[in-house]
Amino acid sequence: MNIKESIESIREKFRSDSDPFPVDEQSIESLRVKYLGRKGLISDLFSQIPKLSNEQKPLAGKLLNELKIEIGKLFESSKNESEIQYDVEDITLPGRSFPKGFKHPIQSTLDEIKSIFNNIGFSVAYGPEIDDDFHNFSALNFPQDHPARDMQDTFFTVDDLILRTHTSNVQVHLMENEEPPLRYIVPGRVYRNESISFKSYCLFHQVEGIFIDKNVSFSDLKGVLEFFVKRMFGSSTKMRFRPSFFPFTEPSAEVDIWNEKNKQWLEILGSGMVDPEVFNNVNIDPLIWKGFAFGMGVERICMLKYGIDDIRLLFQNDLRFLEQF
Ligand code: PHE
Repeated sequence: MNIKESIESIREKFRSDSDPFPVDEQSIESLRVKYLGRKGLISDLFSQIPKLSNEQKPLAGKLLNELKIEIGKLFESSKNESEIQYDVEDITLPGRSFPKGFKHPIQSTLDEIKSIFNNIGFSVAYGPEIDDDFHNFSALNFPQDHPARDMQDTFFTVDDLILRTHTSNVQVHLMENEEPPLRYIVPGRVYRNESISFKSYCLFHQVEGIFIDKNVSFSDLKGVLEFFVKRMFGSSTKMRFRPSFFPFTEPSAEVDIWNEKNKQWLEILGSGMVDPEVFNNVNIDPLIWKGFAFGMGVERICMLKYGIDDIRLLFQNDLRFLEQF
């Protein structure tokens, strides 16, 4: 066997010895020693070079070096691979548990309200939280000297803009921007400069509803709101419509529901038939179109639903409270 053939047979031998390539460190090391060690097969061939003829020496040296580099590289890459393997987690360990996120009770309440109204054909719309006097008050028929405009209730910003005191401002935007018929609910934050206590906060949420069509009557309003209350609180919930007043609805009614825990009626929303004066303010003909509107307090509903007795808990983001839901 000449030297070229010997080199080739070592290459072949290595191929079969290294297939499959060993995985544990000891077998890798003994394979490496067998071929690349000081007394290994490749060294052995190198030691034969001096015995070759002068013409054969350069080629044999070159081929043998190539084989040495080739095999050496395989060990290098297997080393990288095995390093990666040692980094891989033990897949038999139990999985790590991550802390779960959950919905804020206000968000759950909002989602539930939206889904109840979606079921009866209301779409969801949104409007500005910072608005002008016209949309929040004037168009809704609030007289210039109405107490709700007072500094005590309304947060003023710059340029005569205010933080909306209710979501009813969006009624006006919707009627300005779209042709009736309209059927929307409008969830959102509202702001009132009230003293903070267990039952009131300077910021809270409302869901406005607006329904405008040609033949809409007060019984439609009652039907829709009854449907909502029974879906939200259960079919045996006691509720009542109580005559009330809002500048932008006539007649108006508030809805109370009976809170068995405190043995009291609790107001959850205001409602009424859209006042013709409001239609005039947004250029909708009140002789053709009728409508009803309502606005409900989301915190009130949430507190009733989950038995929460202090509104401030909903804004403190204390995990000990939130994790209960
Ligand atoms: N905007 C009224 C409030 O904040 C509620 C309301 C909305 C009443 C729509 C009638 C119609 O108290």
